[in-house]
Amino acid sequence: MCGIVGYVGPQQAAPVLVEGLTRLEYRGYDSAGVAVLNPRSSANPSRVVRAQGRVRDLEAALPARLAGTTGIGHTRWATHGEPSERNAHPHTSADGRVHVVHNGIIDNFATLRSRLADDGVELTSDTDTEVVAHLVARELATGLSLEDAVRTAVGQIVGTYALAVLDTQTPERIVVARNGSPLLLGVGDGEMFVASDPAAIVRHTSQVVLLDDGDFATVTADGFHSFTDGEERTARAAVTIDLTVEELELDGHEHFMHKEIHEQPESVERMLTGRLDDRFGTAKLAGLNLEPRDLRRFERVKVLGCGSAYYVGQLGASMIEDLARIPADAEPASEFRYRNPIIEPSTLYVVVSQSGETADTLFAVREVQRKGGTVVGLVNAVGSSIAREVDGGVYLHAGPEVAVASTKALTHMSIGFALLALTLGRVHDLSFADGRRIIAGLRAIPGQIAEILAGEEALAAAAKELSTAPSLFFVGRVRGYPVAREGAQKFKEITYRHAEAYPTSELKHGPLALISPELPSVAIIPDDDLVERNITAAQEIRARGGAVVAITHPGVELGDAATSRIEVPRNEVELDPILLTIPTQLLGYHAAVALGEDVDRPRNLAKSVTVE
Ligand code: F6R
Repeated sequence: MCGIVGYVGPQQAAPVLVEGLTRLEYRGYDSAGVAVLNPRSSANPSRVVRAQGRVRDLEAALPARLAGTTGIGHTRWATHGEPSERNAHPHTSADGRVHVVHNGIIDNFATLRSRLADDGVELTSDTDTEVVAHLVARELATGLSLEDAVRTAVGQIVGTYALAVLDTQTPERIVVARNGSPLLLGVGDGEMFVASDPAAIVRHTSQVVLLDDGDFATVTADGFHSFTDGEERTARAAVTIDLTVEELELDGHEHFMHKEIHEQPESVERMLTGRLDDRFGTAKLAGLNLEPRDLRRFERVKVLGCGSAYYVGQLGASMIEDLARIPADAEPASEFRYRNPIIEPSTLYVVVSQSGETADTLFAVREVQRKGGTVVGLVNAVGSSIAREVDGGVYLHAGPEVAVASTKALTHMSIGFALLALTLGRVHDLSFADGRRIIAGLRAIPGQIAEILAGEEALAAAAKELSTAPSLFFVGRVRGYPVAREGAQKFKEITYRHAEAYPTSELKHGPLALISPELPSVAIIPDDDLVERNITAAQEIRARGGAVVAITHPGVELGDAATSRIEVPRNEVELDPILLTIPTQLLGYHAAVALGEDVDRPRNLAKSVTVE
């Protein structure tokens, strides 16, 4: 989704902005732009360059000399108005004095636009953002400082925003504001940065200041001062981020998605370090901020997440029911908040998010909290909005995920759920021996993922065959159903082929009518108490001419129920879905590669969905 970068300091701003925007490309965007201030040129105190397409298109459009040491840049993911140069940010006030980049959505933009138009302002784009430039310019014209002008302008806005604003008459500063969209400052040596995502500035500094909703800040080369609408200064301190440039490089892989799939054995090992408690057969999750006595009082668990995180949430809910024997279910966070949910004090709400910035999930957190519920988070991005707002949580420590299609973060989420289920289980009726059994299972996972990845060649071959089908099914039962849902999601996101998940048991209630030689199925067939039924269902598909790629365990006799077979090592039955998901990541990846698609940046999608 949209990305912001800003620079003020001794360097030329344009190259810093372009490099920052390149690092934000992974978030998904359709156009890009920069504005650079040059106080030395009275004729051209600022230059704005924008381009539809990639950051490299913007780079090509930049003049050879774009002098200036203060600037802002943006990658736009269209919400209001088509992707085009005129809708790309930065937007500029009619008098040319103010330049603005914005992430988020201004809900009352239509009213503001028509008011401005009534006052004779000529609007030059279809965006919601442009109004901000005009509003700030209008306040500046009354003699207000840039800070006061921004504060007064955003007072008229209803919606979410991360804003960075330039005024050609005060070229040594950037004023920023945050409400509901992430924004941080990077602290350098005699230079400062602004970014919506630390990836944009990681090459320059690891010292960042995370702004909160309601914060404003003035940023100059010497530092910053942050304040609120009530004008009082806020004491925001810099923290060190754990992110390196190397983590954002391909490191010999053709795609980030491939790199991230292959990082899993190591990243899972890292995630588990220090979190398994052999002495008591449980997990150590201090960040939950819940003592065993508190945990014991919860009679139900509700998991909330979006997209793939929701599917992992379904897996997590079944782990919690299996291990803790308390009712648990998952719901899309995007739906939850709008149905006036009943929040029960005896329910533990668990939100799950890679980015920690998904607006729907963040609003679900606030809905639970507003109604007095307890909400904990399984979050990957350290210091993200969700991580900061929940009552407690578990960091997933998957490291940065650059590919839009999530893989390793989802595996870490499911392991996070296993740790939570184990913790809840051990304060209920899960025995010490069973706790130790799950711990042993968790310890085996990194090595078992490595085993699955070693079979990549066979998976690539199966994926190539599946890629030619116009449509396909992913089917699984009970614990295997969320695996099928996630498998279908990954496949369709990056191949643009129609892939649909069904509970295997539902096939005969309708979808079987679609089976034909043109519609293959990927069937999740673990060696559990449903194995015979799953094999029968696969045979029913085969009997109607459909091909079946079975993801199964060693020793399962499939006979002619499958046209090809992918094996994953057996773990504990509660943890098996974690491993059964890994081949589906590679199926989606290799099918997209076979089709020549842009694997890391699928069309229409964004890495972190910060709008509702
Ligand atoms: C799919 C995918 C999305 C995300 C969803 C939630 O590959 O990545 O479905 O899972 O947008 O994102 P987070 O986890 O950042 O809240």
